Amino acid sequence: MNTGHYGRHLLAEWMLDPSVAYLNHGTVGATPRRVMAEYRRIQDAIERQPAQFQLRELADVEGRGDPSRPHMRVAAEGVARHLGCRADDLVFVDNATTGVNAVLRSFPFGAGDEILVTSLGYGAVTSTARYVAREHGCTVATVDLPPHDATPDDYVDLVAAAVGPRTRIVLVDHITSQTALVLPLARIAAACRAKGALVLVDAAHSPGAIDVDIESYGVDWYTANLHKWGFAPRSCGILWARPEHHASLHPTVISWGLGNGIAAEFDLLGTRDPAPFLAAPFALDLVEEWGGPLLRRHNHDLAMEGARMVEAEFGRALRTPEELFGPMVNVGVPHRFGTTKDEAVALQRRLLAVHGIEVPVFGDTEGLRLRISAQIYNDRSDMERLVAALRKEAR
Ligand SMILES: Cc1ncc(COP(=O)(O)O)c(C=O)c1O
Repeated sequence: MNTGHYGRHLLAEWMLDPSVAYLNHGTVGATPRRVMAEYRRIQDAIERQPAQFQLRELADVEGRGDPSRPHMRVAAEGVARHLGCRADDLVFVDNATTGVNAVLRSFPFGAGDEILVTSLGYGAVTSTARYVAREHGCTVATVDLPPHDATPDDYVDLVAAAVGPRTRIVLVDHITSQTALVLPLARIAAACRAKGALVLVDAAHSPGAIDVDIESYGVDWYTANLHKWGFAPRSCGILWARPEHHASLHPTVISWGLGNGIAAEFDLLGTRDPAPFLAAPFALDLVEEWGGPLLRRHNHDLAMEGARMVEAEFGRALRTPEELFGPMVNVGVPHRFGTTKDEAVALQRRLLAVHGIEVPVFGDTEGLRLRISAQIYNDRSDMERLVAALRKEAR
């Protein structure tokens, strides 16, 4: 498949309602039919001999490195291949929230340590930092980052300047949530580590959205979702850790593998459905089969085009540098649409109910902002529909 073949006709490959212009792939992701079929095939295979699967084939909880590779390790290898890391450093987690929790809740903080978060961080994971700090007598510091109209250098400099002598961990996004910024991760990590802080990355959006090469970033932990842009069924995330952090890293649910290494500890967390994890290599392979870099380029270009069309409709120009966006772009609409969270919710509801467009809208003192996601089942006509809808709503 190449970019010429992308567009709304590909909705047939998904189970999405074709009457809706779906510009919100970033929120939870949508799983292609082919991946759903693979996921169900795996579930059916498990049901043929559930005990055999659960007790002997799924995971090696004793960490003996059994030569017949357990399914969770084979899946980890299939995923690691796409993310620029070793499978031995990668485990599955339900989602990025769980990954952040595992790191922060098992890290040996001392009283007085600081966790540095950013003002653009995702609320749920910032809450985790606050909870952990409270439990350990630590503090949480927040560095204010501009939500838009800033340069990559600004983000590096602001985070670096906020790292202090007590900062143990910097919790930073790879792609920010509402603001959709692809932060210059390797440069931020180098600056933090130079000042003696460890770096935990919330990369909830990254796999499938941008090229991911974990080992090249120089970070300490990297957690990501595969159920957003990676096409995997929900719930499916990963957590990667540098080898020197393995011994102190534990899942939030302690189970049979305790003390036997991260694979043993994370691969079996009691009885649950492992099919999303086992389907993940198939899902990431499909992202590449459907274009890989071409798909990512299409999604980025289309999201940018949509954002520029919205800006042009209201006589403005997008000021955030293009390199700070991936397949989602955050764009403002004029003050007359409102500024509050309630007005944002109302506009989002009207866009769906009246115009058949699913797109998230956020409150902002300078005017509401939309986050436009583009996936290969979108094309310019979806963006034209959005602009036409905003034009009507503006009257
Ligand atoms: C930056 C960021 N972190 C974490 C999450 C949470 O993802 P999950 O609910 O899959 O853990 C999101 C979800 O959109 C996000 O954007």
